[in-house]
Amino acid sequence: MKGISILGSTGSIGTNTLDVIRQHRDLFQVITLAAGRNLPLLYKQIEEFRPKRVAVATKELADELRIQLMHPPEILYGEEGLIACATHGEVEFVVAALVGFTGLAPTLAAIEAGKDIGLANKETLVAAGHLVMEAVKRNGVRLLPIDSEHSAIFQSLQGERREDILRILLTASGGAFREKRREELKNVTVEEALKHPNWKMGAKITLDSATMMNKGFEVIEAHWLFSLPYSSIDVVLHYESILHSMVEFVDGAIIGQLGTPDMRIPIQYALTYPVRIPLKGGRLNLAQIGQLTFREVDAERYPALSLAYEAGEQGGTYPTVLNAANEAAVQSVLARRLPFYRIEEVVAKVLERHSSISHPSLTDILEADRWAREEAQNMIG
Ligand SMILES: NC(=O)c1ccc[n+]([C@@H]2O[C@H](COP(=O)([O-])OP(=O)(O)OC[C@H]3O[C@@H](n4cnc5c(N)ncnc54)[C@H](OP(=O)(O)O)[C@@H]3O)[C@@H](O)[C@H]2O)c1
Repeated sequence: MKGISILGSTGSIGTNTLDVIRQHRDLFQVITLAAGRNLPLLYKQIEEFRPKRVAVATKELADELRIQLMHPPEILYGEEGLIACATHGEVEFVVAALVGFTGLAPTLAAIEAGKDIGLANKETLVAAGHLVMEAVKRNGVRLLPIDSEHSAIFQSLQGERREDILRILLTASGGAFREKRREELKNVTVEEALKHPNWKMGAKITLDSATMMNKGFEVIEAHWLFSLPYSSIDVVLHYESILHSMVEFVDGAIIGQLGTPDMRIPIQYALTYPVRIPLKGGRLNLAQIGQLTFREVDAERYPALSLAYEAGEQGGTYPTVLNAANEAAVQSVLARRLPFYRIEEVVAKVLERHSSISHPSLTDILEADRWAREEAQNMIG
């Protein structure tokens, strides 16, 4: 039985992970669950999976949860709670499914504690890719991608030699507004932005998909995961989200992975790698789909993608600032304090004002993150 910790158990990736575990109770045991504020769902998860330790966002929520449960597990809160869940002695594998920069500290702690990681929380690699990858190497742990694109690339690379890779091609759906021109975005609402054409995901990643900042983050994530230069990472629009990404090799062969848009497939692959086990769910029927659509990405239509490439290439604390400014802007859009179409403008201005530090330490990263959020907030007003 593999001991599992799920950081972000009440979210979209968290609930999909629990669904995979529900199908294979003989293989996995939930040791810890960490969530933010959704007590009703966490309560149900505790009743069903009986974890030994849980964490929530605040002390008040921890107290409330303790009162609700007849036989409460150990209940912790805040960053310390997240770290305690990630590093519990019986945990072998941590599903990093928190959203945003909050995921960095517990993921690093899990790596330092020798746990293998299934990484959904891409912001961790965007904000501090070099620190995470150094820690992975030093501690000899596995960092397995859960993001569908990176899982597809990882699967396409099995048995291949690194030096035979020409480039990787990340596929992008284009998000909620792919049919709209940039000028038309001035009038869109948050509700419209939250309607992803193919995937049902958390609010932040859905907005990031609509700006394509999500794809920009994935470019940076791919750079770290597969040790490839940015010039070898390309993005192609693919409307149906069926071909989850591809690798082109030096001989012109392209290998990709196809599947229904169902996150349980890459989650399960990370949990069971290198073995595959059955998974109940919809099957791909290519004859029914009929055709797959691909288009080139218009860089002017999606400025967030160029911002991410630039920040990634420049390195230092630029990617940290890209992530933090975006997080602040997206939170403001979700709180109806900033129109959707201004996200990229805020991020670009914060990046412009930033003086990057090369080879940043964790302290430098925390400071750059704090600075960028403050700058973005001041700009948003
Ligand atoms: N959803 C997808 O299909 C998908 C695909 C690829 C990659 N990803 C990546 O996976 C990550 C999670 O995405 P998601 O869509 O699952 O997000 P989500 O649905 O918003 O879930 C986020 C989870 O994080 C928890 N959380 C948020 N802030 C917290 C805090 N301060 N302390 C403790 N817990 C906190 C939430 O708890 P509460 O809800 O209880 O507050 C929830 O459990 C993101 O980095 C995303 O980019 C997601």
